[in-house]
Amino acid sequence: MNILVTGGAGFIGSHTVVALAEAGFNPVIIDDFSNSQSRALDGLKTITKKNLHCYRHDCMDVAKVKNIIEREQITGVIHFAAYKAVGESMVEPLKYYNNNVGSLVNLLKAMQITNVQNIIFSSSATIYGQPDELPVHETSPVKPAMSVYGNTKQIGEEILNDIYNAKKPFRSIALRYFNPIGAHPTALIGELPLGTPNNLVPFITQTAAGLRESLTVFGNDYPTSDGTCIRDYIHVMDVAEAHVIAMQRLLSMEEPTFYDVFNLGTGKGNTVLEVIQTFEEVSGKKLNYQFGPRRAGDVTSVYAEPKKALEVLGWATKRDLRQSLEDAWRWQESLAAEVVEKEG
Ligand code: WQD
Repeated sequence: MNILVTGGAGFIGSHTVVALAEAGFNPVIIDDFSNSQSRALDGLKTITKKNLHCYRHDCMDVAKVKNIIEREQITGVIHFAAYKAVGESMVEPLKYYNNNVGSLVNLLKAMQITNVQNIIFSSSATIYGQPDELPVHETSPVKPAMSVYGNTKQIGEEILNDIYNAKKPFRSIALRYFNPIGAHPTALIGELPLGTPNNLVPFITQTAAGLRESLTVFGNDYPTSDGTCIRDYIHVMDVAEAHVIAMQRLLSMEEPTFYDVFNLGTGKGNTVLEVIQTFEEVSGKKLNYQFGPRRAGDVTSVYAEPKKALEVLGWATKRDLRQSLEDAWRWQESLAAEVVEKEG
């Protein structure tokens, strides 16, 4: 089975390519490399031992995507390709709507022309905003988006739901990620640092590696156990494996139309200070950090109720925060070693 992975050279996309290959699928990558590097392909070829096909395109060009689908005899699509910097999305809304929403619409058009019906959509827990109650269920209210990025994910889900309601021949699943972290245990792929990281864990590992002076903890006056925000940190390989299981479910279906959403989280929340403490334990490094003001747009606490994915898909996380941070640190150290080799 040939599965098209858009954004397949990116953080979650590349790990999903590995999980697909391990499950016996033949992943085909399309990526414009605007937020990824071709070095990811080297890691993927080493891990999967496959000569993976990769097309350097964005998903906006319907004809190009249609040709790839036909040439590669694609039976399902996993759609990661999107811009994901929350802060940038507020400064460049048109860039985000055009790419994130436009790519999905054009991809669906190409699928309709070629009669490919199975799609997994990369969504985000950011659409819940600050939930009224925790843990967050899939039926928890979707709040007005706190960012343009979050709004593009809400719109993506609405598009899939609307084509389902119109009884168009698509079977789709939206997966709402909480906070994916970590890296493949081989450290051959991971979260590539392009510019200053927005997210907590790459900032931690770069600080520990001496690439950053110190970490600023954005606020320690929240109403939580230690005053810092709570999130649900999930290993990127757990996220990747969920995509394979979701695609297998779509491929096994008889129904001509289908749409559903699933939370991808551990079901456990950790504060920023707990993440720092766990990182120090697994890395043996003392992290240099200080407290600063709250970051605009941050919610106090959000973590998943993951039981629907277990009951319906038979999926649950296998890795914990310690392993995620061990794998994140191993990846960072491999990057540092590479820089030394290059300089050396
Ligand atoms: C986690 C916690 C920060 C950096 C975002 C997007 C979400 C998804 C994941 C794309 C927060 C604190 C962070 C730092 C800090 N992205 N922090 N110092 O904001 O939960 O989610 O990334 O799909 O859509 O919204 O993740 O890692 O940025 O922050 O104190 O230097 O770490 O305040 O409490 P977030 P994050």
